[in-house]
Amino acid sequence: MATASQRVRLIIGATLVTGIAAAFLLRPHPPWRAPERAASAGAVHAGGKPPSAQVREFEGSYPEVAEPTGVVRDVALEAAPVTLPLLDGQPLDVWAYNGQVPGPTIRVRLGERLRVTFTNRLARPTTVHWHGVRLPNAMDGVPGVTQPEVPPGGTFVYEFAPKDAGTFWFHPHLRSSEQVERGLYGVLVVEDAAPLPYSRDVVWVLDDWRIREGAIDPQFNTPHDLMHDGRWGNVITVNGSIDERLTVRPGERIRLRLLNAANGRVFAPDFSGLDARVIAVDGLYTARPLDPAGFELAPGNRIDLDITVPPSAAGRQISVVDRFTRRPNALASIDVSQGAAVQSPAFPSPAGAHVPPWRDTEAIAPRLEYRLAARRGGEFGIEWTLNGAAARHAHDTEASAADGHGHEVSVLPRREWSKLRFVNESGRLHPIHLHGMFFKVLSRNGRPADEPFFRDTVLVHARETVDVGLVPLDEGRWMLHCHILEHAEAGMMSLLDVKSM
Ligand code: C2O
Ligand code: CU
Repeated sequence: MATASQRVRLIIGATLVTGIAAAFLLRPHPPWRAPERAASAGAVHAGGKPPSAQVREFEGSYPEVAEPTGVVRDVALEAAPVTLPLLDGQPLDVWAYNGQVPGPTIRVRLGERLRVTFTNRLARPTTVHWHGVRLPNAMDGVPGVTQPEVPPGGTFVYEFAPKDAGTFWFHPHLRSSEQVERGLYGVLVVEDAAPLPYSRDVVWVLDDWRIREGAIDPQFNTPHDLMHDGRWGNVITVNGSIDERLTVRPGERIRLRLLNAANGRVFAPDFSGLDARVIAVDGLYTARPLDPAGFELAPGNRIDLDITVPPSAAGRQISVVDRFTRRPNALASIDVSQGAAVQSPAFPSPAGAHVPPWRDTEAIAPRLEYRLAARRGGEFGIEWTLNGAAARHAHDTEASAADGHGHEVSVLPRREWSKLRFVNESGRLHPIHLHGMFFKVLSRNGRPADEPFFRDTVLVHARETVDVGLVPLDEGRWMLHCHILEHAEAGMMSLLDVKSM
């Protein structure tokens, strides 16, 4: 086992090359991802079903409302600067929710209402966005679109009843490339109405930090970060530590919830020393348990794993590494105690969700198509654009008038099936995230990709074209943006107006 400081040095060495190399690496494809193929020009052929068939296949995928229990969970949340022993345990100046990084894990049960009274003790305005949660539009935390900024000293009450059980998260939606990087993020766990009897339910928040002289490097949105895949740090942490250890007993069955809270880094966590199965992606249960090998956890993505520690692992330390980049990065360790195994809780995998097949959709024209590209200009010297437009509001802390702030607005009909196409004309990565709805990947580079799960964030690789299908259920003005936070701040944001038509 490398010592903590050895590991830091290792990571620093590795990250010099990774930011640049990441987009060019050839990596094995997970079994559910089709091999890449150049998009054929005008790939529209006959045979696609009419969208009403897609809506029928979607029925029952997830509910419009959860059965209310009448319980209201009250949580006080405060953002403030604080000094914490993080990374290798040395004091670090951060911005934190409730004095901790990651922020508190908020747990609420399906059917309950959550009421979060938020207070801003930062010297900057902020908001809280509930990533992945289907909620009323006014609670979505997007400044200038769904609410005004929360000024220093100000408060805002977020109240909603989550409709889906699963792993979600919250973070600022204002100057997020700085605010998230400084430590503002936390996990929202929505438990099933009747939680399964796992031995443990554990959260691992993955992040990376760019540390210079013992402090968070205060240069944000640098030309280098903007030209590449955002800000990639030189220290990787799980739950704020470079040496996170989960101590378990042989026989235990664990639900491990992973979140990538990094600004730009993609992780491919390797659990090959364990019999781990993916049971949920971006909150929602998958259609069946999946092998996590090769899963790309892009910024914003979550996966939930179902892991039974085999009795044969007693006394072992299983190190979990990230293999997205050429040089693997140590993430955390699962330390299995010595001794007799405990009885493993026996219950069928919860991964049995209804996920619509949505096959033969190639012939259906996309309702919206987004071209992802960069150009010179704007506040940072480089702008990231969607169809040639760069949104300019996320870094505009002075103006908070509730207009569109130069966002492009597209309309999506509520309760109808739509296909969206993302055409990456750049050589960089773009994890595209939609607020307020889930979607399913239909194809990559024209090749059907039968992902047996929904997502709220999909990683679009360099020069790749990704088609997704969705049926939005909630009215309102929802963001669509790149979750590489530097790309979003430099313009890669747009709005979707979901309306009954
Ligand atoms: Cu986690 Cu608009 O994003
Ligand atoms: Cu991007």
